Amino acid sequence: MIIKTPNDITASVLKGLDGATDSRFKEIMQSAVKHMHAFVSETKLSESEYQRVCAVIAKLGQMTNESHNEVVLAGGSLGISALVCLLNNAPNTSEVEFKTTANMLGPFWRDDSPLSRNGENLARGLTKGDPIFVKAWVKDRLGQPVCDAMVDVWHTSADGFYENQDPSQVDMNLRGRFKTNEQGLIEFRSVKPSGYPIPVNGPVGDLLKMQGRHNMRPAHIHFLIFKEGYKTQFSQVYSDDDPYIESDVQFGVTASLLAQYHKHQTLPPDPSIKGDWYSLEHTFIVDQGEAILPRAPIKGKNQGGLPEQKVLIENPQIT
Ligand SMILES: [Fe+2]
Repeated sequence: MIIKTPNDITASVLKGLDGATDSRFKEIMQSAVKHMHAFVSETKLSESEYQRVCAVIAKLGQMTNESHNEVVLAGGSLGISALVCLLNNAPNTSEVEFKTTANMLGPFWRDDSPLSRNGENLARGLTKGDPIFVKAWVKDRLGQPVCDAMVDVWHTSADGFYENQDPSQVDMNLRGRFKTNEQGLIEFRSVKPSGYPIPVNGPVGDLLKMQGRHNMRPAHIHFLIFKEGYKTQFSQVYSDDDPYIESDVQFGVTASLLAQYHKHQTLPPDPSIKGDWYSLEHTFIVDQGEAILPRAPIKGKNQGGLPEQKVLIENPQIT
């Protein structure tokens, strides 16, 4: 087609998809082309703005490596990850809180954490922080326990760093995989995680600064539940008293994932514990479906120094 008008370009690109044999690919690309072309027209994107968009996308890829995934971080910061999760796990959004305990995967899952016994301590090296004792049940929609499910767990240290970011933590610290028992239960000891600022040394940081947003995530523990016959579930259980619980930079907090990290001062499960300790209990509901493990966003540890934990202050005009 000889292009005569802007609309001819859209029509021509769509026509180019006519020969696609994968119907789902065709459906997604047709919609993507229509929306992207409409976006360019609606915003009257200038040439320099378009060049800037291309540079940002290139930078997202350039910054993604074995221990950091800027692309996933960007998806989270634009609410895409949370939207994909809810649309795939709780399509009736008016009843989200009652429909799913699923949440986004996030950029810090590694797919090779150590197989651990129920009751094991995830603090694999010298790890400061208040002890926490966690019990998590996996049940089906009828409330029946799901036994022999693999439950992967990972979270930050009390300093707010995942082990892959922090060279001072031993490999796989605060990570482990457990198998549910006949009650659908896993239990483990660890240290109480801290909320943390997401990295802002790339395009995601630039985005947040231009918006006047802070970069904090409320404290949480990640879970990934896998068993043949059930839809693989990613989840995060959030500390309900965290100061950032209402303004998660990744838009991940739903009511069904709020939990009380109970503080105790007496009768610790381990008599060697002196001072405060915490307990957490949560139940995950899994649906029947396909058990598919996602591609791990990262594969290893940061080989450089400890990254700077830069906290962006929210624009006071935002309420
Ligand atoms: Fe996280």
